[in-house]
Amino acid sequence: MSVWAILVAAGRGERLGLEHPKAFAKLGEDPLLAEPLRRLEDSDWIDGIVVVAPAGWEEPAILLAEELGCGKANACVAGGATRTDSVRAGLAEVPATALVVLVHDAARPLLSDEVIGRVLAPLSEGWDGAVPGIPVSDTLKRVGPDGGIEETVARDSLYAVQTPQAFVADVFRRAVAGGAEATDCAGLVEAAGGRVKMVEGDPRLMKVTTADDLAKIASWL
Ligand code: CTP
Ligand code: MG
Repeated sequence: MSVWAILVAAGRGERLGLEHPKAFAKLGEDPLLAEPLRRLEDSDWIDGIVVVAPAGWEEPAILLAEELGCGKANACVAGGATRTDSVRAGLAEVPATALVVLVHDAARPLLSDEVIGRVLAPLSEGWDGAVPGIPVSDTLKRVGPDGGIEETVARDSLYAVQTPQAFVADVFRRAVAGGAEATDCAGLVEAAGGRVKMVEGDPRLMKVTTADDLAKIASWL
């Protein structure tokens, strides 16, 4: 089974509010991008990595991969306007021999080998894809435009979804080729009729959105 990872790092990081893109914010001593890149490189599950960098930041991303000795990082491409566009750009660099594609947000630096194993396992049981998630613990309300609560949404069977997300490569290629948009990759596969399984996520896969998130994740390193 040849597994290729697409590491999407092309976002601007507007909510983090730095002058440079979020992927190059400092997490400890290194740019944020270094942590997930190193972890994918060190994972025995992963055969190759495509890095999707912000436009104009391909060179620093390639240099970083070289500095870290990431021999699996075979390609680096510029991302697009939306996350889906960036995934599409990355997928174009994945070789036809790849049987499985695993997409991961660089903004979730604390990727573990256990989670990678958990999202890959269902693919050998006939699932088209698998994603990690955490059951929602807060009470959920649907709110109208005037701020009035319209309904309380039953939260049982609701999950907050993370990455890495793994897919059978052929199914994923077809889903992405459709030109659809979704906030995560599973959404594209679901829209194309694919069967995607939810597996146990990891609280440490928290996404860096704000400066506080960056500080919290740095304290977990
Ligand atoms: N991403 C991407 N290309 C985009 C938008 C997002 O590759 N056009 C990536 C980000 O780099 C990140 C992941 O998708 O690793 C999740 O996106 P998000 O956390 O929203 O990051 P940003 O879009 O960079 O942040 P913001 O929304 O605050 O601008
Ligand atoms: Mg964003």
